[in-house]
Amino acid sequence: MTFIEDRRKIRTLALLFCVVTFTTFLFSYTFRDPSLYFFKYAFRLSDNLFSKGPCACRRCVAEAEDDPWFAERFNQSVHPLMTRENSVLSDETFKWWQWLQSERQPANFTEVVEELFRVIPDEVLYMDAGPKRCRTCAVVGNSGNLKGARYGGLIDSCDVIIRMNQAPTTGFEEDVGARTTHHVMYPESAMDLDNTTSLVLIPFKTLDLQWIISALTTGTIKHTYTPVMSRIKANKDKVLIYNPTFFKYTYESWLEGHGRYPSTGFLSLMLAVHICDEVTVFGFGADQNGNWHHYWEDNSLAGAFRHTGVHDGDREYNVTLQLADKHKIQMFRGR
Ligand code: C5P
Repeated sequence: MTFIEDRRKIRTLALLFCVVTFTTFLFSYTFRDPSLYFFKYAFRLSDNLFSKGPCACRRCVAEAEDDPWFAERFNQSVHPLMTRENSVLSDETFKWWQWLQSERQPANFTEVVEELFRVIPDEVLYMDAGPKRCRTCAVVGNSGNLKGARYGGLIDSCDVIIRMNQAPTTGFEEDVGARTTHHVMYPESAMDLDNTTSLVLIPFKTLDLQWIISALTTGTIKHTYTPVMSRIKANKDKVLIYNPTFFKYTYESWLEGHGRYPSTGFLSLMLAVHICDEVTVFGFGADQNGNWHHYWEDNSLAGAFRHTGVHDGDREYNVTLQLADKHKIQMFRGR
């Protein structure tokens, strides 16, 4: 009698255990509860062990053949980050790049690049895609749709977290997360960073390359077309430069020449699409009421991003949506 009762108890307990495990799994997977990432890592481990695809994630961005629209645009041979070797620009690229901000008397580009790579490392990074790699990335734009979205845990669980321009995190951790591995900026939007974050400079002119050299060393450049930070706190060994050739490729292949040039957000997204295996996107687009403010601002500042005049915000957003539709990226649209 007691033996039968014991067996019944064990069976009930086992059943209860299965139900709790399954419900927890469903809950964490559906709601992406940051406290339950155990499953994500278990999946990742099994993916790593058994993967035969182009990467070890569930889906790999670089799987270009599965979609003709994507395959037509995606070119993995253009490196997103500058090295001494790939810094030689074609005449056409150089002209286009110089035209972006019409620099009057640019310094000698080759000499500036030479000096640049005496200050920052000259390394080929992140081009290690393969069946054993699963690099998950979060691209965090500055949209007001992040306010109250509570994506912090989800964002912070990614390997790479890319933010741009002002992007404050202090006081907004619950919605936008606390970690930043890469901070994309240009001289006029520069910010001090902590020692662990990579500064990714988008240069729009030769002076921008001179600025980063100066900001990390002598502090002599204080003005571009507007006053800029003369010195910046950032880890010199982690500074990266967005490649002008990749900049032009993004504009032509992905935006088909719409707008004057791509926004920092779109350039950051393309960086992620080319160096990551799984890309999740946050803080892009208007909020649910159609406001285009930043998450740290009042929504009466609607239009802060959309109407800059140089970017085609609608086109960029449509391409981003298409990437999401085709499961190349996953978009979290906030509130
Ligand atoms: O305004 P800022 O350029 O700092 O924003 C960074 C990026 O965030 C933009 O380039 C854009 O891609 C995205 N953004 C957005 N909607 C907003 C604000 C920013 O999509 N309301």
